Amino acid sequence: MPTPPDILAQATAMLAAGRFRVVRRLLTQPALPDDAAGLGLLGRALVGLNEHAAARDCLTRALTHTPDDPVLRFALARALDGLGQMHAAVPILTALHDADPGDGTVTEALANALRRDASYEAAVDLVMAEERAGRLNDAIRYQRGLSRHYLGDAVGALADFDAIVSVSPGRAASWFASHACVIGTQGLEAARDRLRRAIACPGANGKYAGYLAAYDVLTGGTAKDHRQGDSPILDGAIALVPHLDPDCRLFGLSADILRFALNAATGEGLVLEFGVRRGTSLRHIAAATTQTVHGFDSFEGLPEGWGNELAGTFSLGGQGTDLPAMPPHVRLHKGWFDAVLPGFLAAHAGPVRFANIDCDIYSSTATVLRELEARLVPGTVLVFDEFIGNRTWADHEFKAWTEFCGRTGIRFRHIAVSPFTGQVALRLT
Ligand SMILES: C[S@@+](CC[C@H](N)C(=O)[O-])C[C@H]1O[C@@H](n2cnc3c(N)ncnc32)[C@H](O)[C@@H]1O
Repeated sequence: MPTPPDILAQATAMLAAGRFRVVRRLLTQPALPDDAAGLGLLGRALVGLNEHAAARDCLTRALTHTPDDPVLRFALARALDGLGQMHAAVPILTALHDADPGDGTVTEALANALRRDASYEAAVDLVMAEERAGRLNDAIRYQRGLSRHYLGDAVGALADFDAIVSVSPGRAASWFASHACVIGTQGLEAARDRLRRAIACPGANGKYAGYLAAYDVLTGGTAKDHRQGDSPILDGAIALVPHLDPDCRLFGLSADILRFALNAATGEGLVLEFGVRRGTSLRHIAAATTQTVHGFDSFEGLPEGWGNELAGTFSLGGQGTDLPAMPPHVRLHKGWFDAVLPGFLAAHAGPVRFANIDCDIYSSTATVLRELEARLVPGTVLVFDEFIGNRTWADHEFKAWTEFCGRTGIRFRHIAVSPFTGQVALRLT
C-alpha cells in the first residue's frame, strides 16, 4: 500500500529539519513502507541516524521502483560508505558526478570516497579536473592533500594544506595534516609549530594536543604539560618508551618511514607485506628495493570488525576484481594469511629481512607472527601500521606483538615512529 500523502508530507518536512527519529517513527508505524517514496524517506533518515545497514536495505528496495533517482542513489552511496564499502560507493558517486559535474556535494562525497577507498591517484585526478573547471574549494582540496600525503608527495600535500590555511586559518585539520608533511623537510620544530596552530583553532577541542605531548615523549621529554583528556596517541607513545632506541627517528609520511625501515634492515632475507589492499604501501616498499617483495592479502577486507570498521572494510570488491597493478619485482599472494603462509614459507627458505604488518586486527597480526616465528632473527625489521594512535590501538597489533614477545622472549628496539600515521618500526635484537 502506498504511504499516505499526509505521512509523506510530514516525513519530508521532518527530514528537511534533521528530525530523523521522527521520520523513522512516522514511516515504520504500523509497518515498514513498501513504496519508493516511503522507503526513500526512511532510508535517508536512517543514513542520518548512522544506521547504515538498514539504510542500505531500504534505499536498495526504493531504487528497484525508481532506479534513476539521484537523491536516493546519493543516499545509498553514503550508506555504503558508512558500511566501509567505499568500492561500492565510488561507482555510484562517479555516475552522479558525471551526470551533474556542478553538484559540489556529490563532488565532495566522491573525493572523500575515493580517498577512503585508497584510490589516491583517482582522488587527485578528480580534484585536478575540478580545479581546471574553476570548481576548487577547501573541502576537495583537503582530500587532494591527504591523497598526495598517502602517495608520498609531501610537497604537493603541503601546498594544498597551506593554500587552505592561508585563506581559512581556523582549519584545524589542515594545520594538523600539514605538520606531518614538514617533519622530513623542515624538521620537528616546524612540525610542532603547525601542531600548535591546529591546537589553537576554535573547534579543535583538545583533539591534537596529545600529538604535541607524544612528540615530547618520543624525544625524551615528559607529557605533563600537554595532556588534555583522553589521548590514544599519547598513551601509545608512552607505551613505546621502554623499548625506544636512543636514536629513534620520527617521520610524518608512510613512504618515508617504510623506506627508512627497509634500509635499516641490512641483513639478508625475505621482504614481505601483510595487508596490501590497493598496494599503496607495497609500492613504497618496492620503490626502496630491487629485491623481490611479497604482498599478502585476501583482498576481501577485514575478516572481523575493527573499532568502527565492519568486517569486509577495505575489500577491493569481491570476486572478479582485478588485483592492484604492481612493479615487476612484486609478487602478490591472494588468500587468508593462515591458508597461504604455510605453503609460501615451505617454498621460500631463509629469515625475514623486513615485514610491513598492516592488517589492523589482533587475530590477523597474531597469525602472521605465529607463522613467521621461526624466521624472525636479530636484525629483522618489522613495521606495524596501526600500532598506536587509533582508539583501539592497545587491543590489536600492539597486543598481538606484546603477547608474542612475552611468549617467545624476543627482544627489540623501536627505531622509528610516525605518529600521524600510527606506524612504528622496530628491529629485533
Ligand atoms: C588497512 S588494509 C592494508 C592497507 C595497505 N597496506 C595500503 O597501503 O593501503 C588491511 C588489509 O589487510 C587484509 N587482511 C586483514 N586480515 C587478513 C587476513 N587474515 N588474511 C588476509 N588478508 C587480511 C585486508 O583484506 C585489507 O586489505
